[in-house]
Amino acid sequence: YLEFVRSSDATGVDGKPMLNRYSTHLTREHDFPGAQAMLFAAGVPDRQAMQTAPHVGIASVWWEGNPCNMHLLDLGKEVKKAVTARGLLAWQYNTVGVSDAITMGNQGMRFSLQTREIIADSVETVTCAQAHDANITIPGCDKNMPGCIMGMARHNRPSLMIYGGTIDKGYSETLRRPVNIVTCYEAFGAYRYNTLRQPDDGGDTSKTKDEIIDDLERHACPGAGACGGMYTANTMATAIESMGLSLPGSSSTPASSPAKMRECAKAADAIKVCLEQDITPNKLLTKQSFENALVMTMALGGSTNAVLHFLAMAVTAGVELTLDDFQRVSNKIPFLADLAPSGKYLMADLYEIGGVPSVQKLLIAAGLLDGSILTVTGKTLAENVENWPSLPSDQVIIKDLKSPIKSSGHIQILKGNFAPAGAVAKITGKEGLKFTGKAMCFDKEVMLNEALNRGDIPRGENLVLIVRYEGPKGGPGMPEQLKASAAIMGAGLTNIALVTDGRYSGASHGFIVGHVCPEAAVGGPIGLVKDGDEVTIDAETNTISMDVTDEELERRRKEWTPPRMVVTRGVLAKYAALVSDASHGAVTDLF
Ligand code: FES
Repeated sequence: YLEFVRSSDATGVDGKPMLNRYSTHLTREHDFPGAQAMLFAAGVPDRQAMQTAPHVGIASVWWEGNPCNMHLLDLGKEVKKAVTARGLLAWQYNTVGVSDAITMGNQGMRFSLQTREIIADSVETVTCAQAHDANITIPGCDKNMPGCIMGMARHNRPSLMIYGGTIDKGYSETLRRPVNIVTCYEAFGAYRYNTLRQPDDGGDTSKTKDEIIDDLERHACPGAGACGGMYTANTMATAIESMGLSLPGSSSTPASSPAKMRECAKAADAIKVCLEQDITPNKLLTKQSFENALVMTMALGGSTNAVLHFLAMAVTAGVELTLDDFQRVSNKIPFLADLAPSGKYLMADLYEIGGVPSVQKLLIAAGLLDGSILTVTGKTLAENVENWPSLPSDQVIIKDLKSPIKSSGHIQILKGNFAPAGAVAKITGKEGLKFTGKAMCFDKEVMLNEALNRGDIPRGENLVLIVRYEGPKGGPGMPEQLKASAAIMGAGLTNIALVTDGRYSGASHGFIVGHVCPEAAVGGPIGLVKDGDEVTIDAETNTISMDVTDEELERRRKEWTPPRMVVTRGVLAKYAALVSDASHGAVTDLF
């Protein structure tokens, strides 16, 4: 079994790496005539190819109902054409994901995070079961990218990832300004609190709020591609490119760009290089490459979800990475990018000024990013970007290293009697660095959404809105809470901090703390806080605490009873039973 699944016999008779060392177990001589009959039926052209050509699995997370994923089958076909043209055997297959934006704020969101595991499970399963020698993955939406990398880490065969690409910019004629998916989410709060903005440039101001929101919905997403800001998909793609696992430029090349199609052809050359040079995921997923991922995430203002996903990828790859690493990197890396959600620009704008490789070049030159790491091209990261154009001197998206938006990273790891095992905050500094307010508790996000819907969250006194029983086990599924955070921003409620044992979308901003650990469902202190307790979030001391004594917390703990699990069968029940805590990436294979 181990020889079949994790073959270590890398050398052929000529002393070079044996490119078909996994598939040869099925295709050599006539050991498995049934398997060979099936493979001939599926498209192996002749005996020579059967016995010598490496098998490359091409896994796209394609499906039609989501702009992030709807074009991935076409990319896969392009990859297959190019792989076949280079004398390899290519097998396209599919795995599933869900749309974070479409499921956001409804019960479907509970299924989102566990799709990361489904993708990893699928890629591992097909690669190992079908004896593929190499693997190209083509993800699009948030969880797709870490799922693909976790799958690669598990099967550990030569692999690379092609990011589906970012969406183009939307434009609202009614509002006379660019719009994107977050404009829609924030419009929800503005719609409820009657603060939906009319055009402010002298345009038609006669539109009703229903006409404005209708226009936003029609024009925010102009075609294929993942959400356009430095939200979770672009954050993960950028970091993964900086780890050397995708081709230079993959993370900033828009989905609709001809360059994205060209990348598919280049991927065929790269996977051949990976096979020939035996570049396997365990040589790419190293402590240094994870360090690069963290640096890029801090410099570009990436999503808090990255913390969860990097921890999960590291656990899967056997690389030691802890929450403390995030704080260490955050302390030393300046926040440079004026990208949404906290900034003005989108990934499509960054592409126009050189894209992610130009940023990598800047950070390598500054000694902040490790250019010496190996990549899927067979070259180092520094070699990949050395001929890439530098950022133009007149660009305004990436701030100068001497005058950053913030001298350290925006992701802060907090601990304290509220979150003894850690919590993740996204604090850009725009909202201040410290917040104290009275706790207002909601035992599920839906309750907060209903309160916001009714306009029940008062302005004035500082409030810390606590959404609990939404962690990996308690949710179950650790759903994202963009709807609430976006509605609060949209409604202009500046007296609010939001704290949860669930997650936020990468598009969330404001004073937000998530991934509180231990979660409420396993008896964490977040489940013991009561309305009116004073909660303090302090990004300078990296603490989150409540003014409740240890004795009182102990008394409340004795009175606390675990909630009844509502989900007892099906995929979410399996997930809740297996999942690790958020501070260990919420993976399902850590026993
Ligand atoms: Fe797919 Fe935003 S919903 S990236």
